[in-house]
Amino acid sequence: MLDMPATRLLSDHNRFRSDVVEGLSRDQKTIPCRWLYDERGSDLFEEITRLEDYYPTRTETAILRARQRELRQFTGAGSILIEYGAGAGVKTELVLDALAEPQGYVPIDIAHEYLFQTAHRMERRFRSLWVRPVERDFMSAFEMPTDMPAGRRVGFFPGSTIGNLNAADAEGFLSQMLRHVGPDGAAIVGVDLVKEVETLLRAYDDSEGVTARFNLNLLARINHELGGDFRLDRFQHVARWNDAERSVEMHLLSLTDQWASIGQRRFHFHEGETIHTESSRKYDREGFGALAERAGWRVSRAWEDNKRMFCVFGLSPRARRG
Ligand code: AVJ
Repeated sequence: MLDMPATRLLSDHNRFRSDVVEGLSRDQKTIPCRWLYDERGSDLFEEITRLEDYYPTRTETAILRARQRELRQFTGAGSILIEYGAGAGVKTELVLDALAEPQGYVPIDIAHEYLFQTAHRMERRFRSLWVRPVERDFMSAFEMPTDMPAGRRVGFFPGSTIGNLNAADAEGFLSQMLRHVGPDGAAIVGVDLVKEVETLLRAYDDSEGVTARFNLNLLARINHELGGDFRLDRFQHVARWNDAERSVEMHLLSLTDQWASIGQRRFHFHEGETIHTESSRKYDREGFGALAERAGWRVSRAWEDNKRMFCVFGLSPRARRG
């Protein structure tokens, strides 16, 4: 199965450069968070998910583990799991385990190593599973493979990755997922909930400094991939709560008045000025339900941990009855 050609990604070096140059030319300097995840960034993120201060991963994993029977009941037997942003696939195994005899697995990710590692692991772990990795940015417009086996399609979007998307993009994403699974499909979406600001900030500015390294790695990446000369010791990682957006923001704060260049382009930084590098939106059940409805879904299940930190939603197409 896996030597079938995966859908290939166009070279994105140029897009990285133009995103960075354009983003650093704005009033509030900003770089899209997708660029945080190069090989080293993905490794650092994996490290974050194991931190004491970072509660989302272990909380979501515990919910999925505790609710395996309900998940199976929700999706039915013989489903095909479509995972958006497959990553290292720890939760994938849990969900595939939960589904009664899953027929297929379609992991979608731009991180080549993780994508194929996970695909191979699932293929070995679940014999006779039809596996087809798709090497794409899950936010781009794309179609499902045409030769997918028949069976109910279940979209899986864990990790509160939806929190990285603004309202319009989140709705666009959920609409595309509905198109992918069709009117008889379903979806399982993990969402981090609004909570005490202190807890939220701790998760994004951990005491071991791993999130700081993850954020600063973006500058290291600009230096080696785009020929930049950023001084990493002159920037500092900060996490901020944006109350209006209900999001935790990561920024890189300039510690001095300084210049940095990328090729021929020079950028000025005031002391205390920041580059916004990621937003992680938090939802409550009502807010997420309203978003899902705008995209053509309805919430048919909502599984939370007992501290109400995180919620896994079971979504059904709104058009379908029952
Ligand atoms: C993978 C995007 C869900 O927002 O919690 C973790 C990324 N950034 N720590 C999140 C992240 C800093 C993570 N997501």
